Amino acid sequence: MKAYTEWNREELLAEKAKVQADYEALKRRGMNLNIARGKPGTEQLDLVRPMMDVLRADSDYMSDGIDVRNYGNLEGVPACRRFFADLLGVKPENIFVGGNSSLQLMYDVIGKAYIYGRGPGKKPWMQEGKVRWLCPAPGYDRHFRISENFGMEMIPIPMKEDGPDMDLVEELVRDPSVKGMWCVAKYSNPDGIVYSEETVRRIASMETAAEDFLLMWDEAYCVHEFAVPFQPFPEILSLCAAYGHPDRVYAFASTSKITFPGAGVSCFACSEDNMAWMSKLLGVQIISFDKINQLRHALFLKDRETVLALMAKHAEILRPKFACVLDALEKEIAPLGIARWAKPVGGYFVSVNCMPGTAMETWRLCKEAGLTLTKAGATWPYGKDPEDSNIRIAPTLPPVEQLQSAMEIFCTSLKLAVLNKLTEA
Ligand SMILES: Cc1ncc(COP(=O)(O)O)c(C=O)c1O
Repeated sequence: MKAYTEWNREELLAEKAKVQADYEALKRRGMNLNIARGKPGTEQLDLVRPMMDVLRADSDYMSDGIDVRNYGNLEGVPACRRFFADLLGVKPENIFVGGNSSLQLMYDVIGKAYIYGRGPGKKPWMQEGKVRWLCPAPGYDRHFRISENFGMEMIPIPMKEDGPDMDLVEELVRDPSVKGMWCVAKYSNPDGIVYSEETVRRIASMETAAEDFLLMWDEAYCVHEFAVPFQPFPEILSLCAAYGHPDRVYAFASTSKITFPGAGVSCFACSEDNMAWMSKLLGVQIISFDKINQLRHALFLKDRETVLALMAKHAEILRPKFACVLDALEKEIAPLGIARWAKPVGGYFVSVNCMPGTAMETWRLCKEAGLTLTKAGATWPYGKDPEDSNIRIAPTLPPVEQLQSAMEIFCTSLKLAVLNKLTEA
């Protein structure tokens, strides 16, 4: 089959009539599916339901001499700090365990920088004229929402196969108003890109004009391989420290896609000075997070090895779902040359770059046919994709049969959006 761009107008109009009819037929099926967010499916949640049984007797609630039912231990239950330390390859004293959301901790780290500065004696960012922020794009919409919420000026950084364009990053950080950067270095959201070791080193070692530069290192998918075995990844805290920037980075992780997104446990990892600073400030707003849940997680997940065994079970569930999406794209879209996508081996998304100018229309057509996707544009700062091209597909929630129907709608909508564009007067 030839790519659509090589068809003549007559052929395109005939194809459009056919695809329009297919689309109307799909619409009549009355699908009602929302895959806007990367949510684990029920089968994945069921895998960890037994975690709710680990605390039974009164004595089970004692851990390292602490009764976890009571107030105290702001930085987290020691057993859970040890667990996350093992997961991320850092020391327990570098781990702060929070509530169920790493996003909340990210918001707080940035919020504290605005109100109090990055450390004792540092200037609060709200007193800075302008705060500029590096946003590898496409990226995670909720990171961008935090930045936007604080009034940062977001600068999109093109993503390459080995991570963000580092030549551009190194140039931009010479500006003292550039205060930080978002990074999802392993299985980026949405592209599923893994930063190369060289990219990670350049980020850790680069000289920034802002001495309080903040690297927001999100490890949301650090153990989330589904098509390959676990891939070790550079540990950012020790790298930043080795290059003389120990306070540059906060790394974040959570069990949202290991246990329960609604009731998991999150953490950040940082230098000892950052830990002292954040503990002091967080201690004003909370006495301690949910330590019962922290202990439950520590007892059930134990260590990295146990987590990896669990994630291998997740992978079995997820593989057919990703295969369903990729097969549909390969069969229906690839021959027409109207989109590009990478084949992720980990993470939670398939990122489709449609023919420029067609993503929003594809999203709208899907929505009208009962399939809700992450809004086109959401993967870019301010929700504005300059090419109107990127769409994020989150295949993890629905069963495969439903996903197949969803992909029929997606592929047909994409074709129709492209045909509409190509046949515009
Ligand atoms: C990159 C990334 N970070 C953070 C989150 C949210 O994490 P949490 O549930 O810990 O707030 C997500 C959820 O999709 C994500 O994709």
